[in-house]
Amino acid sequence: MKIGQVELKHGLCLAPLAGVSDRSFRRLARRFGAEYTVSEMVSAKALCYEQRGRETEARVFRTAPLAAVLREEAPMAVQLFGAEPAFMAEAARLLESGDYLGNESEIPPAVIDVNMGCPMHKIVGNGEGSALMKDPALAASIVRAMTQAVKLPVTVKIRAGWDAAHINAVEMAKRLEDAGAAMICVHGRTREQMYAPGADWEIIRQVKEAVRVPVVGNGDIFSAKDALEMLKQTGCDGVMIARGAQGNPWIFAEVAHALEGESYAPPTFAERLEVAMEHARAMVEHKGERVGIAESRKHMAWYLSGIRGAAAARAAIMQASSIADFEGIFATLLQNCHSDI
Ligand SMILES: Cc1cc2nc3c(=O)[nH]c(=O)nc-3n(C[C@H](O)[C@H](O)[C@H](O)COP(=O)(O)O)c2cc1C
Repeated sequence: MKIGQVELKHGLCLAPLAGVSDRSFRRLARRFGAEYTVSEMVSAKALCYEQRGRETEARVFRTAPLAAVLREEAPMAVQLFGAEPAFMAEAARLLESGDYLGNESEIPPAVIDVNMGCPMHKIVGNGEGSALMKDPALAASIVRAMTQAVKLPVTVKIRAGWDAAHINAVEMAKRLEDAGAAMICVHGRTREQMYAPGADWEIIRQVKEAVRVPVVGNGDIFSAKDALEMLKQTGCDGVMIARGAQGNPWIFAEVAHALEGESYAPPTFAERLEVAMEHARAMVEHKGERVGIAESRKHMAWYLSGIRGAAAARAAIMQASSIADFEGIFATLLQNCHSDI
């Protein structure tokens, strides 16, 4: 699969996940087989405003770091959200120029993605995210303004539609392709469905049939079997995994092995805990201990999912305030696990 010049062997993508797909998690996903990752969603307007004041004030940059890409992360997309073509184009130009970056280890993204799927009230209330599913003409003018502003490929992540009475992913995809989109990712749910079980893969098939640009399928992939099934049922060019990768970055290796027809050995319990610790340490290194620990608690709980004794460990994780606390909790789990054998 190709997105502009970016070539992906199997099209295995880590989805954008606000509050989750930060650089620590993206790095693990890449190590375990994701070929392509997407940043957390970034407000185009906030990025522009922050940069406009860059020279004049000594200020804290909150948005730009979300859009920074480390060299080893390439190829990666930064996802923008917004509903105003002029801001989206300005933000795209900023991303392409790299002028917002903090240091030499950071590079501009290889691809710019547009969020047309976020269902949150505060986003939809501003006409952003999935609200754009209700206005295909505006959605297309956003993409057109961006593709005219930059050389980088611009991709779009859409939903099936706004609600069951307005399933318009096929119309949207065609208009976005005409406006210059280089890839369309379809999350097979309406905004109304939020994240309720039962993604509709048929709409992904219909979009794939309707456009020439690559189509990536998204929704309810929790195993290699799911990924292979989606590829088979929809004919999509790649798959994007979100919740299935939480606490399980190995899912990409599992899918890659299945696609290559190779057998796959899942990580041992000890390996899972080791990677969980590495994840927490990376978050603390990147965000400082207070924020790093607070934000890594949910990841730690995900890594423990399905493990015996996890309930007590999860409760302890919620009280933890340092890496040493996590180490203690995991050491107890490991000990219990060994004494079981
Ligand atoms: C916690 C969370 C954060 C998300 N953040 C974003 C986001 O920033 N941008 C986006 O396009 N989709 C976002 N999504 C949607 C996912 O990318 C994906 O479309 C959805 O979870 C369906 O895929 P899945 O069934 O593999 O989880 C988010 C989903 C979750 C659960």
